[in-house]
Amino acid sequence: MAKKLFIKTYGCQMNVYDSARMADVLAPLGYAPAADVEGADMVVLNTCHIREKAAEKVFSELGRLNAVKRARAETGGRLTIAVAGCVAQAEGEEIRRRAPYVDIVVGPQAYHRLPELVARATRAAGAVLDTDFPPESKFDHLPAATAASGPSAFLTVQEGCDKFCAFCVVPYTRGAEYSRPVAAVLAEARHLVGAGAREITLLGQNVNAYHGAHGKTEWGLARLIAALAEIDGLARIRYTTSHPVDMDEALIAAHARVPALMPYLHLPVQSGSDAVLRRMNRGYTAADYRRVVERLYAARPDLALSSDFIVGHPGEDAAGFAQTCDLVRDVGYAQAYSFKYSPRPGTPAAAWPDQVDDAAKAERLAILQDLVEDGQRRFNAPFAGRIVPVLFDRVGRRPSQLAGRTPHLQAIHVDLDDDGAAARLFGTIAPVAVTAAHVNSLAGRIAAAGSVTDDVANGIDAAHRAPRAAPEAVLR
Ligand code: SAH
Ligand code: SF4
Ligand code: F3S
Repeated sequence: MAKKLFIKTYGCQMNVYDSARMADVLAPLGYAPAADVEGADMVVLNTCHIREKAAEKVFSELGRLNAVKRARAETGGRLTIAVAGCVAQAEGEEIRRRAPYVDIVVGPQAYHRLPELVARATRAAGAVLDTDFPPESKFDHLPAATAASGPSAFLTVQEGCDKFCAFCVVPYTRGAEYSRPVAAVLAEARHLVGAGAREITLLGQNVNAYHGAHGKTEWGLARLIAALAEIDGLARIRYTTSHPVDMDEALIAAHARVPALMPYLHLPVQSGSDAVLRRMNRGYTAADYRRVVERLYAARPDLALSSDFIVGHPGEDAAGFAQTCDLVRDVGYAQAYSFKYSPRPGTPAAAWPDQVDDAAKAERLAILQDLVEDGQRRFNAPFAGRIVPVLFDRVGRRPSQLAGRTPHLQAIHVDLDDDGAAARLFGTIAPVAVTAAHVNSLAGRIAAAGSVTDDVANGIDAAHRAPRAAPEAVLR
């Protein structure tokens, strides 16, 4: 009998990828996707533990699910509740205690065991828990990814982390660093392209530390990207998240040499203060990071750089924060995410005595976010009037509207002449004349009919550091 599955995803892109794979592994058991909790027989919360707020969300959502489960039981129905992801890994026992109505608790390395866990949960009373780091890799036991991922697909190539930054839970929730073999990655990429993906984003907590087995040797990320670029029909390649220490020469050179590698890089720095970086155990100084940035800009002058920042990490004083602001101004980020430091149980920094008070964190966050917004505005402004290739990967608010991404990962909304045009263009890359540049997105209209040239598809015409005028004839 057909059953329905609803997965709610929190946290990073790796969780988005994992959610899709959980759906794949449960499909043979008869689970088809549901649109919401109401229509589902089983709900999976794929959770994130990175900051306190993210983790607390899970418990309030569980309260709501329990109400649905109880109402269902009164009419003889059933709702299976599963908690997956990083909260499941870090707080499995706590979930059992605070939310005893949860049926399954499964950590990120055990998703291939979900069918068995579901079977056990139907027999057992109380939660079935699997937060092992199994000796076998889940990647070897998950079915091939399905076609459901669309024009822009995620592909996890690396997982886990051995860097142990003082503030971070990831090494504890995701386990040791692991790279998937080259052959498995290439096979999955070909499968995704065959199913309609034009863009693949390679994922990993430290994706540029990738060192996948290839026969008796190992390939780094640059070599993997070069091989992926050979796949017919794959127009765009991205990768995230990178660590500054692992940004090697070959990967920097790939940004100059591989046209399919998009001119966007998320390279979190966290802080511009050497004292704070040392406390964080990041393994580089602000000057090291600046040097990496200069080499990247030399390889790809129009590169859009993005970062993560933590304000109010233990040991950050006003002068240290000012150094972060200086770095933001100097690098010229196209976009960035900033967070107040959140003490995470079990991490070293949470136990340090020199915690920064919340008022200072809030003040610094507001200042930093203003700076980042300025940068975004400066990055986006020169795009107005230019023609950029857009991969249309999302439907718009109206049927005659589409949304997509530029090579520099700007979100762009395009109004089309009719609903038919939207259906035709979805999943393709088309040239778009940018009519307006906002802080967080662009707006535009289709610039020319017909197929897109390789140059346009690969973003050759958009260089923010040396803005060029868009051809008048095409703009009209
Ligand atoms: N591997 C990536 C980061 C992954 S976590 C890297 O090393 O850059 C994503 C982001 O969450 C981090 O870059 C950091 O900015 C933020 N983050 C992690 N732990 C945090 C904490 N305890 N408090 C606030 N922000 C945190
Ligand atoms: Fe966390 Fe640091 Fe590893 Fe990034 S490198 S996942 S911040 S421990
Ligand atoms: Fe969150 Fe786990 Fe990703 S803690 S950011 S879901 S690796």
